[in-house]
Amino acid sequence: MTARVGILISGGGSNMVTLVRSMTGTHPARPCVVVSNNPEAGGLIRARDMGLPAVAVDHRAYGKDRAAFEAALAEALAPFEADILCLAGFMRVLTAGFVGDWRGRMLNIHPSLLPKYRGLDTHARAIEAGDTQAGCTVHEVTPALDDGPILGQARVPVLPGDTAETLAARVLQAEHRLYPAVLRRFAAGDRRPVLLG
Ligand code: GAR
Repeated sequence: MTARVGILISGGGSNMVTLVRSMTGTHPARPCVVVSNNPEAGGLIRARDMGLPAVAVDHRAYGKDRAAFEAALAEALAPFEADILCLAGFMRVLTAGFVGDWRGRMLNIHPSLLPKYRGLDTHARAIEAGDTQAGCTVHEVTPALDDGPILGQARVPVLPGDTAETLAARVLQAEHRLYPAVLRRFAAGDRRPVLLG
């Protein structure tokens, strides 16, 4: 059975693009929809250019009511009958209720070697700590932020003179290798972690 993959974004969507492009041929999954909480997200246009339905659910319309935002998100997703949800640069924290509805079926990519540097500003924190290696992690989403079983990691060096920007660019390239590799394995029912770099 071919798994249907919904992708949630907030910004440019470069990870979303690499995921969508990877799902061809013998890949066990196909993309079905891209949803953004930010109507201005460049990724929405990129998704439509690739022939995918792309929907915005603006979180600002719901103020502090996370449950109402998530109900709208669930409603937007429902017609596309996704089996797997990939968070790809999706910058909203999801409640335990939404996460529970997708338990074991929702993945996230985070730009650090978890469990290091949950949350924001991961690259600046890695440089500040004097780390010689950085990287990214794909994990199953559980209610705790940037937690959950690790499905893959890719490592890159931190080079002398790196800024948060130069390191972020290097890590992003690793993200583009890692996420498609993890999704392919996960969609085939294999939860063994993918370790790159
Ligand atoms: C990526 O670096 C991703 O790891 C990060 O946002 C960027 C999105 O880029 N995600 C997080 O920080 C989640 N907490 P993209 O829109 O080009 O894929």
